[in-house]
Amino acid sequence: MTIAIQTYMLLDDQECDARIAAARQKLGDKLVILCHHYQRDEVFRHADFTGDSLKLSRAAAESKAEYIIFCGVHFMAEVADILSRPDQVSILPDLSAGCSMADMADLRNVEKAWRELAEVLDPDETVSPVTYINSAADLKGFCGEHGGIVCTSTNARHVLEWCYGQREKVLFFPDQHLGRNTAYSMGIPLEEMVIWDYDKPMGGLTPEQIRNAKIILWKGFCSVHQMFKPEQIDQFKEKYPETQVISHPESPFEVCQKSDYVGSTEFIINTIASSEPGSRWLVGTELNLVNRLHEQFQHEGKNVHFMSPTVCMCSTMFRIDPQHLLWVLENLLEGNVVNQVSVPEDVAQQAKIALARMLDVSP
Ligand code: 13P
Ligand code: SF4
Repeated sequence: MTIAIQTYMLLDDQECDARIAAARQKLGDKLVILCHHYQRDEVFRHADFTGDSLKLSRAAAESKAEYIIFCGVHFMAEVADILSRPDQVSILPDLSAGCSMADMADLRNVEKAWRELAEVLDPDETVSPVTYINSAADLKGFCGEHGGIVCTSTNARHVLEWCYGQREKVLFFPDQHLGRNTAYSMGIPLEEMVIWDYDKPMGGLTPEQIRNAKIILWKGFCSVHQMFKPEQIDQFKEKYPETQVISHPESPFEVCQKSDYVGSTEFIINTIASSEPGSRWLVGTELNLVNRLHEQFQHEGKNVHFMSPTVCMCSTMFRIDPQHLLWVLENLLEGNVVNQVSVPEDVAQQAKIALARMLDVSP
């Protein structure tokens, strides 16, 4: 019988820590634990592999383990299920760990957008649909079916280059900021970008605006990265002018424009790791990662600071706690699979096409 979560919620982190280690040892290579960089330290320390979304997708695709425990958010566990073998099991320790940005686009609204675009042009001939990996599996399926592709923050530029080799326009969802920051860095002017407001008929756009656009950006955003402001950079640099600024491309355009570097979580880590001792960094991404970077690099004399004066944590990632991880592992020891994430076969097939295109064009 499945062991209930309730008793685990009363355990302290220390007890969980010891029991997680013991369970992992017993399960051996039947199990792999993948952890996104935004996970809290109490979970992160148990990872077999850590990474950004692209790196973890590859790790899931290459893993031989029977059970893939994804310490991240729901769309990541879905990607692991799609890219792994049919006999492998993808598990998300807390199924309520979603992504608020991913929830800003759903299949109904994207299909509606596609139909409305068809009133102005032939989208299947002229528009490549691109979904950020932070999206539900059925949106990846939509992209697979309509000649489109998935992207992550690491490969967004390569993906857009591929798209413009196929068709003249891009419909980019759900994150407007990643779309705008990437397209602008490729030389597409802001005047050729429009926002698709999914609450309005025709996205709130005129036929002429649609015809003139090179990229149509979905009105979605990450509530964590949306908190970063250009003034925060100005104020910090007044005090420490030598600061180098590095931001995640989910941050607003003005923040990325004022940053010295823009890139994925993995890129941020590697850039700071290879910087000179004594350097000072202002970082625009999630708090758990920035705190870890601060701890990790202070002994090298590197100063790592968080961009916002207020706490910007990914509250959904935070739902993955040691108690849920232990609950999943001890159930596996008893032969029970809890919190399996399983994408229906027909959706997975189409989504896999869009993911395979992405992996093909990725650096
Ligand atoms: P990365 O792929 O850069 O790790 O980003 C994932 C994410 O959700 C950032 O908010
Ligand atoms: Fe989603 Fe933002 Fe959390 Fe990333 S940081 S998982 S985009 S809510």
